[in-house]
Amino acid sequence: MRAWEIQSGFGLANLRLAERPDPQPGPAQVLIRVRAVSLNFRDLLTVEGKYNPKQKLPLIPCSDGAGEVVALGEGVTRVKPGDRVCGIFAQRWIAGEPNREKLRSTLGGPFDGMLAELVVLHEEGVVVVPPHLTWEEAAALPCAGVTAWSALVTHGRLTAGDTVLLLGTGGVSIFALQFAKLLGLRAIITSSSDEKLERARQLGASGLINYQKKPEWSGAVRDLTDGAGADLVVEVGGAGTLEQSLRSVRMGGTICLIGNLAGLMAQVPLALVFMQQVRLQGILVGHREGFEAMNRAIAQHEMRPVIDRAFEPEEARAAFELMAAGGHFGKVCVRV
Ligand SMILES: NC(=O)c1ccc[n+]([C@@H]2O[C@H](COP(=O)([O-])OP(=O)(O)OC[C@H]3O[C@@H](n4cnc5c(N)ncnc54)[C@H](OP(=O)(O)O)[C@@H]3O)[C@@H](O)[C@H]2O)c1
Repeated sequence: MRAWEIQSGFGLANLRLAERPDPQPGPAQVLIRVRAVSLNFRDLLTVEGKYNPKQKLPLIPCSDGAGEVVALGEGVTRVKPGDRVCGIFAQRWIAGEPNREKLRSTLGGPFDGMLAELVVLHEEGVVVVPPHLTWEEAAALPCAGVTAWSALVTHGRLTAGDTVLLLGTGGVSIFALQFAKLLGLRAIITSSSDEKLERARQLGASGLINYQKKPEWSGAVRDLTDGAGADLVVEVGGAGTLEQSLRSVRMGGTICLIGNLAGLMAQVPLALVFMQQVRLQGILVGHREGFEAMNRAIAQHEMRPVIDRAFEPEEARAAFELMAAGGHFGKVCVRV
């Protein structure tokens, strides 16, 4: 089979198409013919050696992929040949709280990921995907989709009519926008591009803020919420956005800390946390139970994840380059 590997060292130049022996499913395992993979910011950092510089190589990158079950190992009961499935991000995190053991099982590092024609996963580490989705749409779900779902639903404590603030128009934020609409929430979104803001408006965002034109965008969030602030912030920026998020959230509201697009080490006025009784909730993707709940909602509403572009298998490097440039809206995919 063909697989993309980070081979002898990190960096996009070391991402190469390689031949590997076809994997065979052992007891309780399923063999998947992968059809599409989606990229996450983490995959880019992994290829660049910035996510885990100690990661052993070669590694097949990408946590997120969708494909068809083509063979079963002994004793498999959860799926059957022909089922359309995704792998779950942390293979051993089925439900409940995370722990080290569960989180040591993530795809695309330390475990080999999905950017390969054939992948073997434990039957507990796959979920059947909503039937109306294309391969690319299904491939978008495991990390970005589940993360947005965890923020809004698993940890959100939100109700219809509440306001969420979303930062930028990358994979997680656009999923959060779609879920906000589905849950009857009001969405305010920021972007560096007026064109992307217009696309977000078409997807249901009612508050649009260009964060480059308005670097102190919390004022605009306050204006859009009659001074109260947003009930929840999907914080994907990190260091460079956290203070503005703290100034944008309502008293007693929640900030879901998810990403570091704008830096990892922050210095923020802590009084904004305790004087407003803000809840800072770290999010690490989510468990299989959350993934399955999300899939039920996506199927019920026939929601379609937003795919910016799907690249051909030979163009995987170009897909990573697009992601690095931040030119996308929603998800970037590679067909396999
Ligand atoms: N904790 C977790 O479980 C988890 C899971 C998934 C992702 N993440 C993290 O969450 C972040 C987002 O991931 P993603 O996959 O959605 O990334 P992505 O698709 O690469 O997001 C890129 C977009 O982020 C926006 N952005 C960049 N800098 C920004 C800033 N200073 N303020 C506001 N928006 C900014 C830009 O939007 P515009 O072009 O519209 O300006 C850019 O297009 C990453 O840091 C990722 O590592 C964490």
